[in-house]
Amino acid sequence: MNAECPVAVITGAGAGIGRACAVRFAREGARVVVVDRTEADGRETVALLTAGGAEALFVRADVAAEDQCRRFARAAVEAYGRIDVLVANAGIRVFGTVLEATEEDWDRLLGVNLKGVAFSCKAALPRMIEQKAGAIVMIGSTTALTGRANMPLYDAAKFGVLSLTRSLAATHGKDGIRVNAVCPSFTLTDFHVNRAAAQGTSPAELRERNRGYGLLGRAGEPEDIAAAVSFLAGSDASFITGQYLIVDGGYSIGTQKQQTY
Ligand SMILES: NC(=O)c1ccc[n+]([C@@H]2O[C@H](COP(=O)([O-])OP(=O)(O)OC[C@H]3O[C@@H](n4cnc5c(N)ncnc54)[C@H](O)[C@@H]3O)[C@@H](O)[C@H]2O)c1
Repeated sequence: MNAECPVAVITGAGAGIGRACAVRFAREGARVVVVDRTEADGRETVALLTAGGAEALFVRADVAAEDQCRRFARAAVEAYGRIDVLVANAGIRVFGTVLEATEEDWDRLLGVNLKGVAFSCKAALPRMIEQKAGAIVMIGSTTALTGRANMPLYDAAKFGVLSLTRSLAATHGKDGIRVNAVCPSFTLTDFHVNRAAAQGTSPAELRERNRGYGLLGRAGEPEDIAAAVSFLAGSDASFITGQYLIVDGGYSIGTQKQQTY
């Protein structure tokens, strides 16, 4: 990001890719609004940022609830007067086939991963429209494009996120707002590290098992994704909107090793 002291609101910034984005944006001079539904994790991110000399604010919010999204946008404007960047990152997983999924599973997954993204954008957009400027970066997924067997709810929602990216870009280009998405593939975030730990696998073992993944021979790191988010949010991408950037170490090209738990 190149604008002077911009304000970046990042959902799901208490862990994983969201936290890596928060750290990166803070390092680049942004004031960061850390949004997460888990208070301890969100506060830990803020502590990390402020220890590095940045300005940061935590707002507890569940993005599946529209009023809570309005609350984080209001808090950002009250504290810092503007919203330059929204990273709509918060997401959950539901595993299992369409045959196995219940109506409750669909509601929960779509509530966070699709409606939550739309509510986050709806909350931030009015301020960006007033400013006649803003950048939104959504986090999609490579597997929304490639397909796979075991996460159809998640992948369908992520495909929806890419559609939302294009619709919002088409609607708000005239307002000076750019909307893009980053599509990560398997990235070693807190989610995967905790999941592996529950099965007795250490982060080092998890990395080792995924040697050979994709074309570059490794899984992604949260910082790999944050770098792409920062690019799309910043002025170097000022003529890019309605696009999604696949950041997957070549995974989607094919003939690659799949992730291993
Ligand atoms: N890690 C991967 O392999 C990968 C791959 C493709 C896409 N993604 C996407 O990247 C994003 C981040 O994933 P991650 O791996 O860093 O996840 P993570 O589970 O490590 O971190 C997610 C963070 O979001 C927060 N969160 C979850 N639901 C929320 C809600 N309803 N409201 C507010 N905060 C909420 C969690 O508390 C957590 O702090 C997600 O959208 C995910 O779908 C991840």
